[in-house]
Amino acid sequence: MMSNIKVDFRKSKIKGNEIMVYSEDVKNIHMMMNKKANNKDEFLGWLNLPSKPNKREFDKIKKCAKRIQENSDVLLVIGIGGSYLGARAVIEALTNTFYNYQNKKQRKFPKILYAGNNLSTSYINDLIDYIQDKDFSINVISKSGTTTEPAIAFRIFRNLLEDKYGLKEAQKRIYVTTDKQKGALKQLADDEGYETFVIPDNVGGRYSVLTPVGLLPIAVAGIDIDKIMDGARFAQEKYNDEDLKYNDCYKYAVCRNVLYKAKKNIEILVGYNPKLHYFIEWWKQLYGESEGKDLKGIFPAGAEFTTDLHSLGQYIQEGQRYIFETVLDIKREDSEIKINFEEDNLDGLNYLADKSLQFVNQKAMEGTIEAHAEGGVPNIVIHLDRLDEETIGHLIYFFEKSCAMSGMLLGVNPFNQPGVEKYKTNMFKLLGKPGYENKK
Ligand code: PA5
Repeated sequence: MMSNIKVDFRKSKIKGNEIMVYSEDVKNIHMMMNKKANNKDEFLGWLNLPSKPNKREFDKIKKCAKRIQENSDVLLVIGIGGSYLGARAVIEALTNTFYNYQNKKQRKFPKILYAGNNLSTSYINDLIDYIQDKDFSINVISKSGTTTEPAIAFRIFRNLLEDKYGLKEAQKRIYVTTDKQKGALKQLADDEGYETFVIPDNVGGRYSVLTPVGLLPIAVAGIDIDKIMDGARFAQEKYNDEDLKYNDCYKYAVCRNVLYKAKKNIEILVGYNPKLHYFIEWWKQLYGESEGKDLKGIFPAGAEFTTDLHSLGQYIQEGQRYIFETVLDIKREDSEIKINFEEDNLDGLNYLADKSLQFVNQKAMEGTIEAHAEGGVPNIVIHLDRLDEETIGHLIYFFEKSCAMSGMLLGVNPFNQPGVEKYKTNMFKLLGKPGYENKK
């Protein structure tokens, strides 16, 4: 049975009528989005990806993933922002917590490592040290094909690959995911004859995890990409209701706007499982780049509980009251730990004997939600039955669609990121990039 998700707004303390006044606006945006979904010039192509997967591209993803699994110990994913966070979010959520540390027999599939998401010398040198004696392939991902961080990393690791295997074999180990015609990377891929995957024109970076951008690395890690798409398709149908009353995805978007108007300017996405770390990072990028513009927007932050209850917990409970939380509650774990009974009970834990660790984690969560909500931090709780492919596919679609709706309700364009160019212009000027000498 398809795993469902349930959103509980009760601890947000928002009243039903505060939500329902948005009905008409939501309906209009919903209709506009559906009308323009297939328009090449709008960035709404992600809306129908689950129901209209590109069969040929999917077959190619699976074929290439198999080849990488057969000839590589490591897949190096080179990309930044929306070009790597989605893949990393899914891979880390759905594989063993220590996947990259497991031996080959336990792991079964290649390790997945990442580069091109920073400019740190020690990071790159450490990675070279680690990777040079391993069999590896590269998946470089950049929609624009011109982003500096992945371009530098690709130059470095392409060289390493060519030195190790020679030009011909290296060429077979490079997979390029980029625009179908624009950008330096596309040119390079064509000249060198690399295997390429296309990022559709009307899908922006942070909405691209369900395209080859995310799906190739995810498939290499042995995760069933069909099941991810099944979950996303289920969500596509579920959240296509224009009636706000029955659409939790739109309700989440509306609640965020209601809270923002009540001066709750920071949203913390909270998980109780370290496997969600990169899912939270993906979510931060999705919401931060989509809404933070025109001097508006909720600042998206992340926290891992119970870990961060011992660092951020004090502030959340009693600091300034401009925070709200959205909690990801995973009901079931795939394995179990029971707390054992001890005769002498020196640690005083016998009251928990025979209880599962998941039970303790759940109670910590329930107690925290209660405490924070009481303390003036509205909580929205998203209940997931378990962390599996379908649920992740579902959740990705849920957050993408609510993000688009939320941004439009806020009156910003959720699909551009003009502010990101500012640092690039300064950096290029300082680096002496031709054409940037006189830029302000
Ligand atoms: O969401 C976005 O559009 C951005 O975060 C991009 O994904 C990021 O800047 C990387 O861009 P590119 O894929 O062009 O290298």
